[in-house]
Amino acid sequence: MLYVTRREVFSAAHRLHNPELTDEENARLFGKCNNPNWHGHNYTLEVVVAGKINPTTGYVIDINNLKKIIRKNVIEKLDHKNLNTDVEFLRGVIPSSENIAKAIWDELEDKIPEGKLYSVKIYETENNYVEYKGE
Ligand code: NI
Repeated sequence: MLYVTRREVFSAAHRLHNPELTDEENARLFGKCNNPNWHGHNYTLEVVVAGKINPTTGYVIDINNLKKIIRKNVIEKLDHKNLNTDVEFLRGVIPSSENIAKAIWDELEDKIPEGKLYSVKIYETENNYVEYKGE
């Protein structure tokens, strides 16, 4: 098995807030990430596709095509957006890195034309990342 990774970056605003909790509970739980007027991150996304080499191309997946699929379905919908209010596929979830990674997986899983989606990583900072590999 071979693993092909495409990295993309996007900038977005969010607020971690659970509407089922009180303002005090939210502030205690999420700290500065609960600031009412949003804050931003420069996110890095890594998408890994696993598969065998196609003998005709020598590729697992045409990575230029993978780039286009990620940009069209994910990056264009997230970049310079408010993740709480602007993104259809994040509607109703707390936009933590965990939920973002899972939602991106769900957006991409059936759109990978060669190989299989293997993992989605979201870096919220250089030091913190979440990886999702499906159920
Ligand atoms: Ni944040």
